[in-house]
Amino acid sequence: MIYLDNAATSFPKPSDVYEEVLKCMENYAANPGRGSHDMSIKASEKVMETRGEISEFFNIPNPLNIVFTNNATEALNIAIKGLLKKRDHVISTVIEHNSVLRPLNYLSKNGVQFTLLGVNQSGYININGLKNEIRKNTKAIIINHASNVLGTIQNIKEIGKIAKENNIIFIVDASQSAGILSIDVQRDNIDLLAFPGHKGLLGPQGTGCLYVKDGIELENFKDGGTGSNSNLMVQPDFLPDKFESGTLNTPGIAGLCEGVKYIKKVGRKNIKKHEEVLIEYFLNEIKKLSYIKIYGPQNYENRASVVSINIEGIDSSKVGYMLNKYGIAVRTGYHCAPLIHGIIGTMNRGTVRISPGYFNTFDDIENLVKALKQIYEQRKI
Ligand code: ALA
Repeated sequence: MIYLDNAATSFPKPSDVYEEVLKCMENYAANPGRGSHDMSIKASEKVMETRGEISEFFNIPNPLNIVFTNNATEALNIAIKGLLKKRDHVISTVIEHNSVLRPLNYLSKNGVQFTLLGVNQSGYININGLKNEIRKNTKAIIINHASNVLGTIQNIKEIGKIAKENNIIFIVDASQSAGILSIDVQRDNIDLLAFPGHKGLLGPQGTGCLYVKDGIELENFKDGGTGSNSNLMVQPDFLPDKFESGTLNTPGIAGLCEGVKYIKKVGRKNIKKHEEVLIEYFLNEIKKLSYIKIYGPQNYENRASVVSINIEGIDSSKVGYMLNKYGIAVRTGYHCAPLIHGIIGTMNRGTVRISPGYFNTFDDIENLVKALKQIYEQRKI
């Protein structure tokens, strides 16, 4: 199978990731923080090591400000629902994923107000438009760093500066960018950073994180055992325990640790560069085909490794189905980001999304292009 669905979850993972998950399962998958025996201590140490690797990667001053979650969706729910109260206003965008849009829609029924900024055909927000939407009660700005539909990268550094100048909490959804694009929570003035462990960070599914800056008050909506203050009925109020009730996914976190180490070893910039040359090649090839429509930015520069297309006259799901027959895995449809399709004109058909990762090759892209040509040529047979 030629796997080109890394925006959904990265595959394959570096071999060290598989090995550490197995090693953990076989040797030290006890409950971290819940016992004084050697296995529990080893599990706790691994969880702490992972917090350290991740915090260094994003220039997070204190590893304890990283909360482990199951995925970016859970991290975003903790951030959004934990922060916003009745009469608060929040600014976000129409290019967001449902992991932002649905919590906002839910909260709006309880008096939270939200404004969704429009984007242009390439998926970019207008920075001045953002400034114009700031109100007295604007509590937060939530921005999708890199679009899972168009690959558009928003300028989080500039937006973070605006948020800071206006005393607004800056929440970044780094689902498609963590591990690939440069993110520095201090440089970019990020207050809450949500990201998956199983995409660009190359860890297993069931891993994700929320970085919570010191001083940001969030309510937790999950109470339970944390291994700390166990003699009390009240939920601990300190990080990360406040948000980490229940047994952690230690094998997944152990694998994630290796994913992050692998990125550091190879170099994040080299990973980005590799994805960029694949995207450049793909875009150049399909631009020659008049029957293929490319959505979003038309160039490989300054875009994430996500390209949405359609083949003239063929439904996106049919193209995905046909590509699968060629042994090529892509995602089709709306990609859980409904509103952007109104902007790019794909409300009724969605898109075929191709998302190469670090382990893809030129051959993979060449095979994809060949398959797309054949699917078009055979459309009426
Ligand atoms: N949010 C993931 C995607 O875009 C699952 O496919």
